[in-house]
Amino acid sequence: MRVGIIGVGNIGSIIADLLLKNGHELYLSNRHVEKLRKYEGLAETYLDVEKIPNVDVLFLCVKPQDAHSVLKRISPSNPKMLFISTVTGLTIDEISSYVECDIVRIMPNIPISIGKGVIGISCAKNCSERKDEVKELLSPFGKLVEVDESLFPAVTSLSGSGPAFVFVIIEALVDAGMKLGLSYETAMKLILETIKGSVELLEAETKHPGELRHIVTSPAGTTIEGIYSLEQQGLRGILMKTIFDTYKRAVELQEN
Ligand SMILES: NC(=O)c1ccc[n+]([C@@H]2O[C@H](COP(=O)([O-])OP(=O)(O)OC[C@H]3O[C@@H](n4cnc5c(N)ncnc54)[C@H](OP(=O)(O)O)[C@@H]3O)[C@@H](O)[C@H]2O)c1
Repeated sequence: MRVGIIGVGNIGSIIADLLLKNGHELYLSNRHVEKLRKYEGLAETYLDVEKIPNVDVLFLCVKPQDAHSVLKRISPSNPKMLFISTVTGLTIDEISSYVECDIVRIMPNIPISIGKGVIGISCAKNCSERKDEVKELLSPFGKLVEVDESLFPAVTSLSGSGPAFVFVIIEALVDAGMKLGLSYETAMKLILETIKGSVELLEAETKHPGELRHIVTSPAGTTIEGIYSLEQQGLRGILMKTIFDTYKRAVELQEN
């Protein structure tokens, strides 16, 4: 497939790298030349978005504040082109006021770089019959979760920004292990395997997390002491507020 990507920053370059591995023909545009250099000989590269030729799929991967100026400058001449936007807060309606083609909005997260991401996806009403095509193109990136476009700010806060929160939590747990005398390597291994194992158990058992938590908690034991401390410090409230504050920012971005 001939695929164009506008903006090869964090997300655009991850998408470009995986699509190249999957044998697609790439046409990449970026504002400054530095980020295009690594694609010399692998893809066609352009400083000017207007130079991107006719493609089957065009990804828009620029920051929200740059999106409108880019959209003003592209005029796809292929009516069958699929336009896929990763831009936080940019709605399908806004995009359709600039381009006449099938539009899909996605919210990926950073683990797409190893094919383990989760991508929130919403197709414009008139292109629902192209869902399978979109799913086939994006499946090497991870799991796809279709949501109503009105829920995109929620997806942004939970899974789009989510990896950053998970990394902060892991860092704190590793520090706690180090405070108790474990080496960084040992603490990291213990934490990562604990998280991976817990996730896999939860998936395998398909139980509510509270049920599994209960199994680990014995009367007057160590775990209930830790749970009591977590509840006293309001961990649940902290996490819920974190997601809600992130959600509010995603809504704000959409409204501006
Ligand atoms: N990072 C994430 O985890 C994540 C997750 C989900 C969604 N998103 C969304 O995806 C979008 C991209 O995020 P990002 O983290 O990849 O941002 P980024 O690293 O800043 O990448 C944006 C790229 O767009 C380029 N650009 C800006 N204006 C351009 C123009 N007129 N023509 C061509 N290229 C242009 C920038 O080039 P220069 O740097 O050379 O100026 C930059 O390389 C954002 O809207 C973000 O909200 C990000």
